[in-house]
Amino acid sequence: MLRGKPAKGERVRIQPPRSEEQTRLVELAKSLIPGGTTNSIVPPAGQEFLIERGEGAYVFDVDGRRYLDFLMGAGPLVLGHAHPRILETIARTASKGTHHFGLNRRAVELADRVSKYIPSAEMVRFTSTGSEATFHALRLARAVTGRNAYIKFDGAYHGHHDLAVWSFEKSASEPPRGTPESAGIQRGVAEDICVLPFNDSKSVRDEMRANPERYAAVICEPFQRTLSPAPGFLETLREECDRAGVVLIFDEVVTGFRFAPGSAQQRYGVVPDLTALGKALSGGLPVAMLVGRRHLMRHFEPGSNEDQYSFHCGTLNGNLLATECAHTALDILMEEGGIAQLEELGQMAREQMARALTDAGIQFQMCGESAIFHPYFTDRPVSNNADVRSSNWQFNDAFHLKLLEAGIYKTFTKGYVSLAHDSGHLEELGRASKWAAREVKST
Ligand SMILES: Cc1ncc(COP(=O)(O)O)c(C=O)c1O
Repeated sequence: MLRGKPAKGERVRIQPPRSEEQTRLVELAKSLIPGGTTNSIVPPAGQEFLIERGEGAYVFDVDGRRYLDFLMGAGPLVLGHAHPRILETIARTASKGTHHFGLNRRAVELADRVSKYIPSAEMVRFTSTGSEATFHALRLARAVTGRNAYIKFDGAYHGHHDLAVWSFEKSASEPPRGTPESAGIQRGVAEDICVLPFNDSKSVRDEMRANPERYAAVICEPFQRTLSPAPGFLETLREECDRAGVVLIFDEVVTGFRFAPGSAQQRYGVVPDLTALGKALSGGLPVAMLVGRRHLMRHFEPGSNEDQYSFHCGTLNGNLLATECAHTALDILMEEGGIAQLEELGQMAREQMARALTDAGIQFQMCGESAIFHPYFTDRPVSNNADVRSSNWQFNDAFHLKLLEAGIYKTFTKGYVSLAHDSGHLEELGRASKWAAREVKST
């Protein structure tokens, strides 16, 4: 179906309307599942759909409508949907039982592998989610240092626990005070959190030197959501943490096993003390991990020095099915050139979208690295969350709604490519972007 009179080569697939049956299911979901969503992202009213299946670079809803997927399960589906080797791994493994709780050989081998890839990984603990990994990183840092406070950066997302739900969407109105994203947070956390602007070395240096005994940890996404670190910023974190005896935590849940074989810490050449990893590792199954320096990680050891012992447990930690799939994902990403391919595909996505927006006469800043891309609609460089907030969100939201109409499934804040994408898919992204930008501009 075509809209308007697109020029030759500008064909865009417009989705047919949602069926009555799908509308009924959406309403049923809303009546049973708060917000009608399994997460915090609520699709625009009338645009909700239920995914029936995924295949390669596509998802299909219950009406059979096809979407070119740039959400990719919010990051884990780095190989694409239903990758044949992940399916084969699941089939081969499931007959041994999906989960044992007790330690299994493949988990030990995975720890060994990861310790060779990731510069900071002298020891490894498994979790099921990235939130658990960042939570335990912060608790371990407090247990070992005996201090309570920590620094995070405005706009960074570290998961859903009480120590993390601060200043990722809402503005840090009075930095360094954090802004809670949720009610019900344990009292006292607010006093222990300091939120600083990303990429601002001076504010980190000033704060840490003014309070040299205060902080247990600095936690950051080395590549924050869609923003690259400014030259010297991560180095400053490393120096100031060393100077004040503070634990430097990199949240590499997104960048891990995606940005380089040794993850963002290898790409940027700054090695933290603790690293949270997840998403790309799993090929879409629930596995994440916290890795780090031996002198810190050994405080997870049951029976270790009680004053510094950090309790960590989880029923599905080291789950056999997820562990085996992680091995398969690492085979493809590390041993078979997957990471380099992701880099190329990400670059193509950024170029396609940038060309489309330029052709449509739109001002934007294309952000992203490796497999990640996102345009901000502003004429100024975007290097921290204040810049993100001051971009044109009205245009952004309208643009992404139009993309969805053209069958492009991407969150309004970030896009991921996977190894299932090819140049044809990215050309389709470019065509849809040009159409969407022109449609929004003309309204
Ligand atoms: C950088 C980062 N850290 C932590 C998390 C939390 O991971 P999970 O959703 O697996 O708990 C996310 C999730 O999107 C993330 O992007």
